[in-house]
Amino acid sequence: MRALADTSTEPAQPLAGSPSITSFDGPDIDMLIRQGFRPARIESLEAVARGILSITFAPPLGGEPAFTPGAHLEVAIPLPDGPAIRHYSLCSKPDGSQGWKVAILDEPTGRGGSHWLHEHLADCTSLLIRGPRDTFGYQRRAPMLFVAGGIGITPISAMIHDAEDAGLDWHLIYVGRRNELMAFADDLIDSHGSERVDVRITAETGRPDVVALARDWFATARASGATAPEAEGTEGGPVVYTCGPVPLMRALAAGMEAEGIEVIFEDFDDDAPPTAEATASGQAEAAGASGTDTAFTVETTSGEEVRVACGQSILAALGAAGVRTLSSCQKGTCGTCETTILDGRADHRDHVLSDEEKEAQETMMICVSRAQTDRIVLDI
Ligand code: FES
Repeated sequence: MRALADTSTEPAQPLAGSPSITSFDGPDIDMLIRQGFRPARIESLEAVARGILSITFAPPLGGEPAFTPGAHLEVAIPLPDGPAIRHYSLCSKPDGSQGWKVAILDEPTGRGGSHWLHEHLADCTSLLIRGPRDTFGYQRRAPMLFVAGGIGITPISAMIHDAEDAGLDWHLIYVGRRNELMAFADDLIDSHGSERVDVRITAETGRPDVVALARDWFATARASGATAPEAEGTEGGPVVYTCGPVPLMRALAAGMEAEGIEVIFEDFDDDAPPTAEATASGQAEAAGASGTDTAFTVETTSGEEVRVACGQSILAALGAAGVRTLSSCQKGTCGTCETTILDGRADHRDHVLSDEEKEAQETMMICVSRAQTDRIVLDI
């Protein structure tokens, strides 16, 4: 069972006078601390490509610096309409020896979180963060193909550090529009060579057929005998780990299925405006496949009762009643709104909890999940 955010009364480190923290109002700060966010000192900032800034954090005192390759941090950002939570994958060495480093793409036409960071980071000494948390599910396997599109290189970078340290057979296909927009591209080639790191620049050579490239690489790996599933320290056979634009990840998943090769991916572009497809799918899930949703009541720890109407999410109902909550994707995929169930049973509709976790009825995602019971008591 994954641990939900530590909501104990453990005292937070003093909140530094960083605008990324002092711009929140008091009740928002209280909520964020209660939900497990902690101030993390910014050790360094660096422009790692045009429009991409990397931040290296000192892990909060007393925390475990090591993290799972593919894990991300949640960062609280003080937007004018309230705290925005954004997810940024860790791209440094998973043993924590380089601190916790994330890289943030400026998205001026997005929902505002990443752009706020680009505008204000130079004045910030710390940020409120939670994590690291792993939802990618990386495991050492052999051989491993990594496919990154644009800023999707960030979780893949941490996986490459791990694969390299473990001496595993790996290869990277890294697709981007222009070299100057691609974080870490030159460093990766310098460190591992262009045999291992295949950088594809679409402005120069057009969009590559990544499925054909993947097939070719696995065929070569097979011919060289590198596909042995019993490779030391690995579990399972060949795999593709990919992060980047959804069409690229979907094409890979469809193309490699015929080869019997698993494709594992994660989409965390939560600062981009939601697509019509995502909105429709989120609404359909919130409404329930059968369309037979019923209204129910949510009770908070202070005893406040909020009625959730048919077709309305718990998140929306609480927001309308003035109850402060945290959310990010609002489509049941990121885990930010995970809330402890104190009484009652949830009708789970998210893509975060495992079947066992859903059965345990200990937590729920309040952006999409509903109640099976007429009343549900939540730790809010
Ligand atoms: S806000 Fe992302 S799962 Fe609810």
